[in-house]
Amino acid sequence: MILVTGGAGFIGANFVLDWLKDPNAEGIINLDKLTYAGNLATLASVKNDSRHLFFQGEIGDRTLVARLLQEHQPRAIVNFAAESHVDRSIYGPTDFIDTNIVGTFNLLECARKYWGVLPDSEKRKFRFHHVSTDEVYGSLAPTAPAFTETHPYEPNSPYSASKAASDHLVRAWFHTYGFPVVTTNCSNNYGPYHFPEKLIPLVILNAINDKSLPIYGDGQQVRDWLYVGDHCSAIRAVLVNGELGQTYNIGGWNEKANIDVVRTICQILDELRPRVDGQSYAQQITFVTDRPGHDRRYAIDARKIERELGWRPAETFDTGIKKTVQWYLDNPIWVEGVVSGSYRDWLQKQYS
Ligand code: NAD
Ligand code: DAU
Repeated sequence: MILVTGGAGFIGANFVLDWLKDPNAEGIINLDKLTYAGNLATLASVKNDSRHLFFQGEIGDRTLVARLLQEHQPRAIVNFAAESHVDRSIYGPTDFIDTNIVGTFNLLECARKYWGVLPDSEKRKFRFHHVSTDEVYGSLAPTAPAFTETHPYEPNSPYSASKAASDHLVRAWFHTYGFPVVTTNCSNNYGPYHFPEKLIPLVILNAINDKSLPIYGDGQQVRDWLYVGDHCSAIRAVLVNGELGQTYNIGGWNEKANIDVVRTICQILDELRPRVDGQSYAQQITFVTDRPGHDRRYAIDARKIERELGWRPAETFDTGIKKTVQWYLDNPIWVEGVVSGSYRDWLQKQYS
């Protein structure tokens, strides 16, 4: 088996669903706290799959994690669990420090203890895969080369600082204890089951609900977009062949300014679900106050993972964004389930 943490969130759940599509796949132990971002509805299709064992709990709960490791003897851990939204980290960093730093530390310690007493043959096979972000590298000037794995760490938000700290812990556990780790740093994901606090799902749902489409600042900030299924396939490639102690950058070669992303979504919606008044959804675009400390540009140089592991993304931004918009139009019940009272409170706080 493998142990996945945060497997009820956006990327973790996509990973679990993709993994279990293979009839020969090993089972998954899924440990998730079910914060506002965790959603069992996303996992409904594997509810009765005996290869999927779900446990609600925290990565920082050493007693629980030790018990799960002892009982299920996983040969790998993939750590997705995190607080992930930059805007929320600006309002309240505490949960980010608790989960992303202290939680990762506790998880590492439990895993190290478990690994330390495995028989040699199992010990050699074991790995701890830490899922991280390109935001740890900070912000790029417009013409600067994309982030490579050796780019200095320059995190600028409480979120990225907490992820950077967790990356450093993981690195140190390899160097100090020989604990078998691999870290991946990925660019912005998008796709099905994305919680609608993030730009792409927020814009799709606001558009069809006749609400404004909020663009922070001048909308010229650049992100490098990757379809979530491609992130999952990259993690699988690293799990199989990634070299221990290494980091791999994962990206989609899809740098886009935010305003262009939003205009593209409007064009797709204009075709798929035209507004009743015949106007474009682009009319709903509204420029709002910028995010404090907003990073200007991220871009990933993904040549190492391509060269060493033969991984490349399957989707272009054009194919991935069309699929994504269509998915949100086709899944109103899932959407209804996440647009709860607490989500509405967040929108009120952030955009009022
Ligand atoms: P998400 O917020 O959608 O999901 C996070 C999941 O972790 C939720 O299910 C939540 O309940 C769970 N969780 C939170 N605290 C926990 C704890 N203490 N113990 C156990 N579970 C806990 O996040 P996501 O977008 O799916 O991101 C997953 C990982 O990928 C994160 O580590 C994030 O930093 C990283 N990442 C995200 C992106 C992106 O674009 N979304 C890009 C690169 C890297
Ligand atoms: O780069 C990887 C990171 O991508 C991940 O590590 C994070 O977990 C993930 O949340 C994401 O961070 P961003 O801050 O880039 O994503 P977000 O969707 O929040 O914002 C994308 C861009 O859009 C960013 O420049 C801010 C802008 N934005 C966002 C929102 C929510 C807006 O202009 N308006 C908005 O309402």
